[in-house]
Parts: sequence; C-alpha cells; structure tokens
Amino acid sequence: MSGRILHELSQMATQAIKEALGVDVDDPDVRACTDPKFGDYQINGVLPLAKTLRDNPRKLAQKVVDVLDTGGMCGEPSLAGPGFINLKLNDDWVAKTIGRAATDDRLGIAKSTELETIVVDFSSPNVAKRMHVGHLRSTVLGDALVRTLRFLGDTVIGDNHVGDWGTQFGILIWAWKQERDEVALASDPIGELERLYKLGSARGKEDEAIADACRAELAGLQAGDPENLALWERFVEISRIEAQKAYDRLEVEFDTWHGESHYNDALAGVVDSLLDAGIARETEGAIGVFFDESEKLGDIPFLVRKRDGAFNYATSDIATVLFRVREYSADRMLYVVDSRQQEHFRKLFATMAKMGHGDLDLEHVHFGMILGDDGKPFKTRSGETVALSDLLDEAEERILPKVAEKWPDVGEVEQRRIAQRVGIGAVKYADMAQHRATDYKFEWDKLLAAEGNTGPYLQYTLVRSNSVVREYESRQGSPFVASGAPLRFERDEERELARELTKLGDTLERVRKQLLPHILCEYLYVLARKFNAFYAKCKVLGTDDEALRESRMALVVATARGLDIGLSCLNIPRMARM
Ligand code: ARG
Repeated sequence: MSGRILHELSQMATQAIKEALGVDVDDPDVRACTDPKFGDYQINGVLPLAKTLRDNPRKLAQKVVDVLDTGGMCGEPSLAGPGFINLKLNDDWVAKTIGRAATDDRLGIAKSTELETIVVDFSSPNVAKRMHVGHLRSTVLGDALVRTLRFLGDTVIGDNHVGDWGTQFGILIWAWKQERDEVALASDPIGELERLYKLGSARGKEDEAIADACRAELAGLQAGDPENLALWERFVEISRIEAQKAYDRLEVEFDTWHGESHYNDALAGVVDSLLDAGIARETEGAIGVFFDESEKLGDIPFLVRKRDGAFNYATSDIATVLFRVREYSADRMLYVVDSRQQEHFRKLFATMAKMGHGDLDLEHVHFGMILGDDGKPFKTRSGETVALSDLLDEAEERILPKVAEKWPDVGEVEQRRIAQRVGIGAVKYADMAQHRATDYKFEWDKLLAAEGNTGPYLQYTLVRSNSVVREYESRQGSPFVASGAPLRFERDEERELARELTKLGDTLERVRKQLLPHILCEYLYVLARKFNAFYAKCKVLGTDDEALRESRMALVVATARGLDIGLSCLNIPRMARM
C-alpha cells in the first residue's frame, strides 16, 4: 500500500491491459470521476488503444474488465460510454485502510516512487530594499513546495537566491559616501539604504556626471576595491538581518542563501563557453544568446555580457544552474518567481537546452499579483507598496480582539501569541488557497474569517479534533491508542469522512507534479468540513457503545493526522488551542 489510490489503480490497470490486450501502456489514464454518479475513479486509457488494435473500444474495455483485479479496493467495474471503465471504492476497503492508517504518523502515505533531487529557488529579495507584500507569495508558495516535496521523499534544497549584486551597488555606494545619515542608519538601517538608493538613482538621472561616478563606484567594487567591498558586505548584512526578521515571523527556513554574488567567479567562464560553442554572439558590443530557430522567443537576445563588460542577471542564472547540477546533481529546479519574469525564464531554459542540459526539468513556478480591494495592485493609502512587516502586524492586530474575547483568562502574552499564529496562518493560507497563476484580492475580512476556506477555519478544526483526543484521555484516564482495526460506519458522515481521508496521498502527489498548493488547500477545506459534519452528527465520547467509540476515535485521530500533515506541508502554524 502506498496511500495513493490513483497510483495503485494505475498499476492495476496497466497490468490488466497487458494481460487482456497484450500491450504495454505508459499511462492508463486513471482519474477521479468528476461526477459521483459514475463512481469514484475511471480508467480512460483503453479507448485510445482501439485505433492501433483495430478493434471495438467497448469490446477491448470489456476484456480489460474481465481480468482487472483491484484486490478488494473497488467493487465490480462497469463499462461506460464508448470504452471507459468506472470503479467504485468498497466501503470495507475504506474502513480497513483508514482504520490501519490511524495508527501511522504518515497516515499510510509512503514516499513517492522516482524520487528526485530538487532545488527550490524562492523568496530571493533584492538587497537594500525592505521586503514588501510582493515577496510574500514567492516565500510562502516556495516554502510549501519545499515541505510537500520533502514529505514525499524528494531531496530538496531550498535556496534563497538573493539579488546581492548588480548596478544598484554603484549607486548605493556613491550615495552612501556622499549622503548617508548616521542617525537614520542606526535607527532604521534598511530604511536608510532605501532612501540612499532612491536618492542616488534620481541624482544619476538628472546629472550625467553623477551617473558616471556611480558607474565608477561599481567598477571599483567589481575590481575588488577594499573600501567598496566592505561597504557592499555591510549592505548585504543589513538586508539579511532585515529579511531574517520576516522569515522568523513566517517560520520559513532556507538550506542555502547563495545570492547572485556567489556565482561571480564563474561568469566570465560562462560567457566564454557560450561563445566557444557558438551559442552566443556579439551584438552591438554586447554578447547575447539568440533564438533564431524559435519564433516564440522572438528576436530580443538573452544578454549575458553588457557593452561595458559587466555581466547580466541572465549570466548569473546560467552559472547557477550549472552549479546546482555539479554540486547537487539536481534533476529538477523550481523557480518561484512572479509572472513578469516568464520571458527571462523561457530564455534561460532554452539556453540551458542549447548547452546540452535539455534533460533537466526546469520550471518557472510563476504567480500573479496581490491586489487591493479596488482590483489594483495592493498599496497603502498613500500609494506606496505595503511593507511585509506592516502587513503581518496588521493581521495580528485585527485578530487580537477576537482572541481576547474568546480567551479572556489566558493573559495578554498568550493572547498575543495566539493572535500572531492565527494572523500569520490566515495571511499565508489566503496566498496559497487560490490558483497561483491568477492575481488575487487581499481582503482582510475574508481571510480572517472563522468559517469558509480560510486558515483560521482549518487551524480551528485541527484544534477541535485534537481536543477530542485530549478529552478522551482525561475521561478514560489513559491516552487513546488506535488499534488498527477496520472502522465501523454507522452513519454516512463517518463513511464520507473516511473516504475523504483516502485521498490525501493522491492530493499531495498532484501538488508534487503540478506545483499547485491550492489543490492541497481545497482538499483540506473539504476534509475539515466533512470532519465538522461528522462531529455534529456522531457522538464520539458520548456513545455507550464502546466499539463504536473506538472506531470514531480512530477516525478523529486519522483526521487530526491528515490535517496536521496538510497544514505542515503548507507550513500553517498549528496550535494546541484557539
Ligand atoms: N531577485 C530577483 C527579483 O527580485 C528574483 C530572483 C529569482 N531567482 C532567480 N534565480 N532568478 O526579481
């Protein structure tokens, strides 16, 4: 058992097709039915075989049905349409499977097959800028992917590819030397860096001599001038401390924090090898990779060296891929970066293919924008980008009175702690609950609501299920231990909940393949609703029937496990009470 119904049915179907029709299929196209009228799962892969086998598809499907053995998982398969095979899960199988899963920390979900080494490139803010609301998405989505893939057994390296190199440093160093305000620097270091950068770039635009001076500072830095290098290090450090505050609040960690500067020494070599291989060529004094063969990539080259000899964002990204292949033997790299960089990544991936790395699985996990109530990019009242820390503060402040009302006796420290965790969970969840490729509206009332597809609702449902387990212990005098015996279904709500639990493994696997965390959110929401429906209708501790109580407790424990696994993959805070 793998804890993945789709995977198991696929194997069974492949086997049956081979036996009945004598052909090997890669993918028998098993999926969950969208309409329960037809059953729970369907095998669609026989129909397309009819052409090559020159036979009636329904007849072929019948032959497959005759030999298909699901080992008791499903009832008698039925034929539908021109050659689809429909399957219904057996209640007995569900009862047995979830009864057993209740004894397992992983709820019976095994690691994936075909495990990979995957680098997840996420968050990646630029140095000398405060993290703003736009950094939330990459951080939260990337973190969820890291955790989900890791749970499924992949070797994952979460890398914060910070923008710590580039032309901005010439401007910053110039402005620092001319205009820094030590007092401001001491009280708000990152704010002062932001101010200096804005000032330097505005001055440079007005005055060509200043622009030249900025370029000279940059050249000095690139040539290793000790004063400029020390300044650069200081800027990077200030930014890092600032970013770390946000990561601490979000409880996000990275395995590596290799910024763009990590690849500096490799850049000249990258350009040389591209030139040698005839992949890049000169263009108006610069060097670029052209995609003459591809209409889609257009005729704007992927620049790897500027006219003045400096290297580009593209160059360091190429060096980064090469490093990850060499250092980790990575099979897959995920770039959790907003949709505006689609063109950059398309060209990066096409360049890597030209360089002989076509076998690498490189994916741009792109995402849309966060919008305000008015449907425009989310801004403060005065029209500025919203600082991430302000956003998290506000979440906490808004939730605090509700917590205080509900838990007047726990003391203010504890109330704050709960508010923090609910607030963070709500913000994160709202960010992941929608298809990442679309823009979404940031609406406080919706995302903080205790009901609906929200973080607080899921956190609350987990707390509720765990409190039943605690209550059992205090009534019985010893903790509940699931026996592993099959569950007993007295009511539909129990059956429905148990059936939902069988789908967690498949859901996680879909997130792994499609890189869409909202699929997991949707699943957890349905699971939580089914749990609450069960809990409203079925007495657990209050029933005198001991066997039924044990069965229901097993279901409660399994649900708590399922919610816990899902929320920990999404990295939504889980707490003892709320
Ligand atoms: N620092 C970049 C930005 O803020 C994002 C970096 C994404 N990762 C990468 N390997 N290009 O736009």
